[in-house]
Amino acid sequence: MTAPRKLVMTISLNALEHLGINLYSNIPAVLSEIVANAWDADAKKVSVTIDKTAETIIIEDDGTGMGRDAVIDRFLTVGYKRRDELGEATPSGRKPMGRKGIGKLSIFSIARVAEVYTTVSGERTAFRMDREVIRKAISGKGQVAYEPEELPNWPSDLKKGTRIVLSKIPRSLSGMTVEGLKRRVARRFSIIGPKYDFVVSVNGTAIGPEDRAYHNALQYIWTYGDQEELVKLCKHLDRPGEARLLKIANELTKHHISLSGWIGTVFKPDQLKDEDGDNLNRLAVFMRGKMAQEDMLDDFGQKEIYADYIIGELHCEQLDVDDQGDIATSSRQSLKEDDPRFEALRKVVLSELRYIAGKWSDWRRTDGAKVAATVPAVSAWLGNLKRRYEKKGRTMDWAA
Ligand SMILES: Nc1ncnc2c1ncn2[C@@H]1O[C@H](COP(=O)(O)OP(=O)(O)O)[C@@H](O)[C@H]1O
Ligand SMILES: [Mg+2]
Repeated sequence: MTAPRKLVMTISLNALEHLGINLYSNIPAVLSEIVANAWDADAKKVSVTIDKTAETIIIEDDGTGMGRDAVIDRFLTVGYKRRDELGEATPSGRKPMGRKGIGKLSIFSIARVAEVYTTVSGERTAFRMDREVIRKAISGKGQVAYEPEELPNWPSDLKKGTRIVLSKIPRSLSGMTVEGLKRRVARRFSIIGPKYDFVVSVNGTAIGPEDRAYHNALQYIWTYGDQEELVKLCKHLDRPGEARLLKIANELTKHHISLSGWIGTVFKPDQLKDEDGDNLNRLAVFMRGKMAQEDMLDDFGQKEIYADYIIGELHCEQLDVDDQGDIATSSRQSLKEDDPRFEALRKVVLSELRYIAGKWSDWRRTDGAKVAATVPAVSAWLGNLKRRYEKKGRTMDWAA
């Protein structure tokens, strides 16, 4: 009689694919993971270089870099728990964005090959990872490890930090513009720019908050906390921003959550379909300066017209408190929706949306009538109406 098989638990390649390799299909989302790692490494500068001819994307940061041990124990460890090991703040006092140790896997959802060059205190480590070789290594019987290929050459111009060269990118880079990429990376972070000592540039030009490129479409804005810098960027507002934080302070305290950011409405819904194919008719949720969920507007199922005009960015740090468990799911683009903190946020936001819906229809009616009154034919018509009709005419919904 042969001995019974040993009990063994294994992790399949399939699991790895779900955790990262098949996670994102879009380049900006993956670049955001790499940019987030640069932030966590206390980098002050990150440069992204897209080379369409060579079909490569190079991301370089001037952060702390990694020694050989860090490469093995952190970068090459799937599921490295950085906050347990490295604590709640980086040496320069930033709150780290990473936590699950799977961000780097997302690289392989857009590129087959990644070369990593990283240096710290004169120690240099260079290696190449190949998605297809990883797949083979891990799916082989009894095999659980993958050994990246060490690279003998060192790029002489790399003195500090980490350089990652992505190649064999099946999704063609040709349709991607530098401006488009800047827009889409800008929309995923709120901590890019000199103010945060974190300058991210694409092919030589720095990304700024204005690269989000939707400010000029905003007609009205409701703000939570200090949003002065942002409101200044909105050049076409029909009314000054309305500060809402004090009005909902009790609600927030009751639920033990904080909120900052803004909700706005645009002049016309088609301004929220942008040229890169992003749907901007959304309320994005941010944690620690990085987009954590692309949209929570969809959750509310608001069918009224105003909902088509909504765009916003909300920051809520309590969704990410360590001692209360981990709210970010492995998909990284969405939050655990049954978490009480998320539920509380949802409640507050829904009640804000109702408030905004009311304001929006009032303001659109009166501001629309003002616009109509400036059009000569319409103002003549209004002038000709008898007084009792005129009042009605002025409150008609011209803008609808
Ligand atoms: N550019 C970088 N510079 C220094 N260390 C890095 C860099 N990128 C990744 N690392 C290290 O590799 C670890 C794993 O990265 P990642 O898979 O994105 O997971 P996480 O960010 O959740 O920890 C990080 O915690 C960090 O220690
Ligand atoms: Mg990370």
